[in-house]
Amino acid sequence: MERALYGSQGFYRRPGGGPATHFRTSAHNPVFAEAVGRLLLEVDARLGAPERLDFVDMAAGRGELAAGLVEWLAAADPELARRLRVVAVDLGPQPKGLPEAVTWAAEAPSGIVGLLIANEWLDNVVCDVAEVDEDGTVRIVEVDPATGTERLGGEPDEAQQAWLAQWWPVVGAELGTRAELGLDRDEAWRSAVAKLARGVAVAVDYAHTAGARPAFGTLTGYRDGHQVPPVPDGSCDITAHVALDACAAALPPDVETTLTTQRDYLKLLGISGSRPDLSQASTDPLGYLRGLSRASAAAELTEPAGLGAFGWLLAYSGC
Ligand SMILES: C[S@@+](CC[C@H](N)C(=O)[O-])C[C@H]1O[C@@H](n2cnc3c(N)ncnc32)[C@H](O)[C@@H]1O
Repeated sequence: MERALYGSQGFYRRPGGGPATHFRTSAHNPVFAEAVGRLLLEVDARLGAPERLDFVDMAAGRGELAAGLVEWLAAADPELARRLRVVAVDLGPQPKGLPEAVTWAAEAPSGIVGLLIANEWLDNVVCDVAEVDEDGTVRIVEVDPATGTERLGGEPDEAQQAWLAQWWPVVGAELGTRAELGLDRDEAWRSAVAKLARGVAVAVDYAHTAGARPAFGTLTGYRDGHQVPPVPDGSCDITAHVALDACAAALPPDVETTLTTQRDYLKLLGISGSRPDLSQASTDPLGYLRGLSRASAAAELTEPAGLGAFGWLLAYSGC
């Protein structure tokens, strides 16, 4: 997975349109930038309007969210827009046409005072897969990187066994039951949150929590808009849903966390898919059309069986 996604020829290292050419995320929806902008205003107030406020788009793809946020904020709060430092972080190449206000970086800056958001990052952080064999023993799945053919290898190491016992117990489960090990995701999230001096970090992802883990795992691939077998040959995305409750527990005890869904959190931020009043169509047809288009974008983000079901893990550090 590491080599297939992030090696020199890896899926995410290639030039071109980036993730958006293969699948659609919330970051490709303009109302998402507005939602994140509204959250940024709350974070600014919480931090007492610091002289410089940071916004870090972690695992930014081609910087779509950072660019959308800059545009939204310039109209919504020009004073804050002047105080804002925006950094888009990704291992992929810097995209053309990024607004001047956005700095491109391969690593998140330290000492962040503000908001860091990681949309669909942790599902792409490498994870091993464990599977129960015919004797009920849990073994690590090995895969042929050229063909995707799988076989069962050795047993999980001590750290993996401890993680499984705590977060995704499968010992003695039926043949073929799988668990996707979240150790690297926990560590990635812990180190991202550690970049905050004062502020809020948000991980937004396909997620599950204890008691509702998917029995046969979620590992899959995406290419050119289609779901494909997860062959780790660099030709497709490789992704697995995230145990966000384990990520939350990996943080230091003084960091408070909230785990909710995109649908519920966007509602709190005042984003809803309700249509504008029909009477507006005759008095202000353009405004009505804009309202309709915004409502359908909001509906996509809050759809209970789609993006609305994504997990939002918020971490409050030093604030
Ligand atoms: C599914 S894409 C999401 C892109 C964007 N956030 C969005 O929602 O459209 C995952 C991105 O994570 C990036 N990524 C993975 N690990 C990273 C890391 N350690 N540092 C920076 N970017 C990373 C990949 O290069 C890829 O662009």
